[in-house]
Amino acid sequence: MQEDIFVSESELLKQKEYSEKVNSVLNARFPVEPPKAFIHTYGCQGNVADSEHIKGMLVEMGYVLCDDDSQADFILYNTCAIREHAEDRVFGNVGALKKYKKDKPHLIISLCGCMMQQEHIAERIKKSYPFVNLVFGTHVTHRLPELISKVLCTGKRVFCIDESEGVIAEGLPTVRDSGENAWLPIMYGCNNFCSYCIVPHVRGRERSRRPEVIIDEAKKLVGEGYKLITLLGQNVNSYGKNCDFRMNFAQLIREIDSIEGDFKFDFMTSHPRDCSFELLDVLAESKHFCGHLHLPVQSGNNRILKEMNRHYTREHYLELIKYAKDKMPDVDITTDIIVGFPGETYEEFLDTLSLVKEVEYGSMFTFIYSPRKGTPAASMPDPFTKKEKTKWFLELLKVQEEIAAARGE
Ligand code: SAH
Ligand code: SF4
Ligand code: F3S
Repeated sequence: MQEDIFVSESELLKQKEYSEKVNSVLNARFPVEPPKAFIHTYGCQGNVADSEHIKGMLVEMGYVLCDDDSQADFILYNTCAIREHAEDRVFGNVGALKKYKKDKPHLIISLCGCMMQQEHIAERIKKSYPFVNLVFGTHVTHRLPELISKVLCTGKRVFCIDESEGVIAEGLPTVRDSGENAWLPIMYGCNNFCSYCIVPHVRGRERSRRPEVIIDEAKKLVGEGYKLITLLGQNVNSYGKNCDFRMNFAQLIREIDSIEGDFKFDFMTSHPRDCSFELLDVLAESKHFCGHLHLPVQSGNNRILKEMNRHYTREHYLELIKYAKDKMPDVDITTDIIVGFPGETYEEFLDTLSLVKEVEYGSMFTFIYSPRKGTPAASMPDPFTKKEKTKWFLELLKVQEEIAAARGE
């Protein structure tokens, strides 16, 4: 059961007090105009939703948000660890921030998010990027007022990476800036441990927000005029597992769909293992469903799926797709695919190609496998070269282009 994962009222209150303290320090240090904060978000919508809370907290502390890092008094990167390329970009961009410190020694540079939750990365920042003032992991976002207060009052570098399995902090302020779209997290973390993936290691265990809180928030968003509400979670089909309330994802969808108003809902990500026929039935009946189903397959080969620890077969996946298309002929199915998982042969890759041809996805997010430190796949033999994998990858893109062309896109 997950009762003890909620951040307590008293802790949230303590953070409000820190926020007021930061506010008065900033008022004294910036008497003419308020300090500016620049936030850059890498990675998935989960990170975007976290950044919306971070922005909310910063505004409460007295910062105004800006889109020009050269003007900022506080710069924060909310980072992603999903592939090596994502991490390299962050390191490059952080290095480039050093120049701003020369003219503006009071500038606070801060890094948070999935990359920072990894010990070896936080260590690297500590040693090689001495101009970074504040580093915090994914489980302490709600403590931002306390952390900024420490930096402002002591002038020392602050590193806060909590090794817990994750918490839920409700009631944080939010600044949304995605037009008519609103992100609505319904759960955090992941228990699936796909063998290639860093997310369970940096985002903690699966934990679901309470249904009444989600439904209230959805109603509020509809009332405020948002037209597309995207329910977020690494595996939304696990919603409600191990909880004291009794509601699964399909039932939550029913509740969301019963909200009156002019809006559509989407959700991501849906794991094929737990995608139930009940869910597909509910979607087919929903008047507010946007018609988009993201169902990441990763590979079309059963041996690779097993090595990936995905817990479904090609046949089961295709059965879900057939059922979804039968029930919803216009459904737009999208997917994620990894090319070049350790030990994947060309013949096994061809199974992915044939699956792609069979499903005819609306669009695909395709990635070349990237080893992640600490994951099981990173220590599997990986005999094929980057060059070979890139060739297969391009072949996959070509097939997808042909499918789109045949559809007249
Ligand atoms: N929870 C989602 C995926 C989130 S990560 C799900 O299970 O479907 C988004 C995508 O990044 C994954 O679907 C996968 O295709 C890709 N990905 C994750 N780890 C990767 C790695 N180590 N190398 C390459 N791609 C990866
Ligand atoms: Fe990663 Fe798998 Fe969890 Fe998705 S379900 S976040 S791919 S471990
Ligand atoms: Fe990246 Fe973390 Fe999302 S690793 S994909 S930002 S959960």
